[in-house]
Amino acid sequence: MSKWIVGALGAALIALVVGVVIVGETSGQASAQTITVYKTPSCGCCTAWIKHLQRDGLDVRVFEREDLAPVRASLGVPDELASCHTAKIGGYAIEGHVPAAAIRRLLEERPAAAGLSVPGMPMGSPGMETTSPPDAYDVIVFSDEAQSVFASYVGRVPTDQASNQ
Ligand code: CU
Ligand code: CU
Repeated sequence: MSKWIVGALGAALIALVVGVVIVGETSGQASAQTITVYKTPSCGCCTAWIKHLQRDGLDVRVFEREDLAPVRASLGVPDELASCHTAKIGGYAIEGHVPAAAIRRLLEERPAAAGLSVPGMPMGSPGMETTSPPDAYDVIVFSDEAQSVFASYVGRVPTDQASNQ
């Protein structure tokens, strides 16, 4: 009888440990990060950029606005860094055709900044695919006080990787 109790207790203990491990692993899995995108209703390259984010595994929520200037202003995007769409993720603003890889690096490093921008719409950036050679462009990290280059790309390829190839 006591042997049976010890056996039952042992089995219960094993079940508990296994359960804790399984629950721990499940809760440790990052659910898809949500990015909120504001775009104008007719913007085709915005939709192409959204598909780029989705292919990268981001969960995209889209809101259409006729005028994005108030959205940019509310997220602290300087006028000179404006592009065709504005997004927010993890407390940061994302302006324009920023590669998903740059967004992931931003969320990992979490610099003291308001967000990232690819000003204008460089040809070859994600969502601006073209058959001609892609433009070189910079991803700018900005805050109220400062702007600097966060990463440099040619098309979708970071230039530091391109020079290593
Ligand atoms: Cu665009
Ligand atoms: Cu856009």
